[in-house]
Amino acid sequence: MVTLSNSLKTKLSTPLKIGALEVKSRVLQSPLSGVTDLVFRRLVRRYAPDSMMYTEMVNATGLHYVKHLPKIMEVDPLERPISIQLFDCRPDFLAEAAIKAVAEGADTVDINMGCPVNKITKNGGGSSLLRQPEVAESIVREVVKAVDVPVTVKTRIGWNDKEITILDFALRMQDAGAKMITVHGRTRAQGYNGNARWEWIARVKEVLSIPVIANGDIFSVESAVKCLEQTNADGVMCSRGTMGYPFLVGEIDCFLKTGEQLPPPTPVQRLECAKYHLQALYEYKGDRGVRQARKHMTWYAKGFSGAADLRGHLSVIESVHQGVELIDRTIEQLMNGYEVEEELEVIALV
Ligand SMILES: Cc1cc2nc3c(=O)[nH]c(=O)nc-3n(C[C@H](O)[C@H](O)[C@H](O)COP(=O)(O)O)c2cc1C
Repeated sequence: MVTLSNSLKTKLSTPLKIGALEVKSRVLQSPLSGVTDLVFRRLVRRYAPDSMMYTEMVNATGLHYVKHLPKIMEVDPLERPISIQLFDCRPDFLAEAAIKAVAEGADTVDINMGCPVNKITKNGGGSSLLRQPEVAESIVREVVKAVDVPVTVKTRIGWNDKEITILDFALRMQDAGAKMITVHGRTRAQGYNGNARWEWIARVKEVLSIPVIANGDIFSVESAVKCLEQTNADGVMCSRGTMGYPFLVGEIDCFLKTGEQLPPPTPVQRLECAKYHLQALYEYKGDRGVRQARKHMTWYAKGFSGAADLRGHLSVIESVHQGVELIDRTIEQLMNGYEVEEELEVIALV
């Protein structure tokens, strides 16, 4: 049984203020490269109508050299509030990209200062900006000058255990004009391993006046509440917990607003959602969408007997038809199983 302290309840009942923007939810869907495309965000939005969504990160240098906006930057006017996330180390390219993001409909522009991937850090972007705070500062200043929507930053607590620099870094970002900061409680060296160190997020919250969003290891209503209690953060951002589970942001948001814990979706409901996801990805991206859907499908297929087998088959689907057939067959088997179980329960009661 999860409970929310009264002080937290009072604080969380007000909108999240990101500069002049008011968001009616304290739970955010994180940017996830290769995951949070328009199709996925629409699914999350279904269950979390008020929450802030983020695009996958967009390369500002890449954007400088292309005529057309990449598909990952495409935003549906119905999915607002939405943030377009950019990465790079060049303030001028980032400012230019931010202008394009706003023209596309971004309510905020987020700068990625946390990505640990070598390909990004060796070019000076992502978490390597933690080691170049002056560059990070000038990025924020230039982007703030370029657009009239709030500019936000998503980062980590430091480069490694010897360089946990988040307190100074976060203050610099605030001074440069960032209107919100999301802190993933891991160092770059940690990657996605070990626990997120929420205690550092609590310290950031103590020294900043802009909203601080806690990120890392939010996998359930329980962990979200624990994190909010421990950090006093202004909101939580869900990441890996939403992969194959687009219900999470809505579940947490509902609990924070009403104190009600929604029943988790049944395996059949998850599979229905997987099927819709697959079909929507195909409609949006064609065969490439089917290939991208494979990983999503394996994330959905969990928590029932036979799930491992299904995952194996779904991980190699070649067509939408094949995937739908596999899912439909499993749903049918599960439905039959439930009927049997229900009958057994009734028989046991008599
Ligand atoms: C597959 C994957 C893709 C990610 N892509 C992005 C991204 O594009 N931008 C970003 O800021 N963080 C990205 N992240 C980091 C997450 O947003 C988040 O900070 C991290 O997973 C920690 O939260 P968690 O422990 O709840 O998963 C990515 C993480 C994963 C696992």
